[in-house]
Amino acid sequence: MSEKILIIGSCGQIGTELTIKLRELYGNDNVVAADINSGSNELMYSGPFEILDATKKDDVKKIIKKYKITDVYLMAAMLSAVGEKFPEKAWNLNMNSLLIILDLAKDGLIKKVFWPSSMAAFGPTSPKVDTPQMTIMEPSTVYGISKLAGERWCEYYYQKFGVDVRSIRYPGIISWKTKPGGGTTDYAIDIFYKAVSHEDYSCFLSEDTRLPMMYMDDAIKATVDIMQADSSKIKVRSSYNLSAIDFTPAEVYQEIKNHYPDFKVTYSPDFRQVIADSWPQRIDDSVARKDWGWNHSFDLEKMTSDMIKNLSN
Ligand code: SER
Repeated sequence: MSEKILIIGSCGQIGTELTIKLRELYGNDNVVAADINSGSNELMYSGPFEILDATKKDDVKKIIKKYKITDVYLMAAMLSAVGEKFPEKAWNLNMNSLLIILDLAKDGLIKKVFWPSSMAAFGPTSPKVDTPQMTIMEPSTVYGISKLAGERWCEYYYQKFGVDVRSIRYPGIISWKTKPGGGTTDYAIDIFYKAVSHEDYSCFLSEDTRLPMMYMDDAIKATVDIMQADSSKIKVRSSYNLSAIDFTPAEVYQEIKNHYPDFKVTYSPDFRQVIADSWPQRIDDSVARKDWGWNHSFDLEKMTSDMIKNLSN
């Protein structure tokens, strides 16, 4: 195997578990983790780790040269809710980090790039149910705007310069290892933490807010699968719709109650309700399923049991 992998944003919610998975698959020494902050001991000491600001091109280039990197997974980003508080910072991080990596790939320093987009690239005018791969996209958050612009840049660099960049539009990702940093779907993780510690939960979205979601194991599988697929199978070079499950706060609450019958949830929607209302409820990912064989394996029930089992340990 000749891959030398760099994960930027390796200490984040997805980065942490992706790094561990890629180290299992490609060998610890072949997977370099980098982040602006330090992370868990498991992540920092199981292989090479570098402190790196993803918006500093010279620093990024230095690391890529030092380790003779072939594949970059660019996971550093500011999420939707916190992005509304710091619009300039969100735009700067989300956009400049991508342009730096695409440029280095164009100059032949990297062979393959993974960059995550999001369901947040859709907006209030997009169809809400079974949102197609190709449809109206008018995102209304800074995060969503940066994701849509990023998708256009990915396609541009593929068409113009042949950069092998691959991307998926993640739904809300549910996990227990590392908490997300300020997204609108974070309620679906917070609710589990409260349940296992026998506390009540006040949800910042209304009980009937349906959103597309996915368990981390499936998100990691999708990421590995799209990167391992033969290049000829990757026909969409902006970003693929990806979906697994969808639920409302009331539905996940009911599921958790099967494990904790006394668990109480109240609802007090805040500014994140407006963000959630602008997103799809269920996404059609048939193109990803057809092109590179995407398939999910966790439903709401299986995810709930696994979350509770791991969080209670
Ligand atoms: N989980 C993200 C957020 O809520 C969506 O991509 O911002």
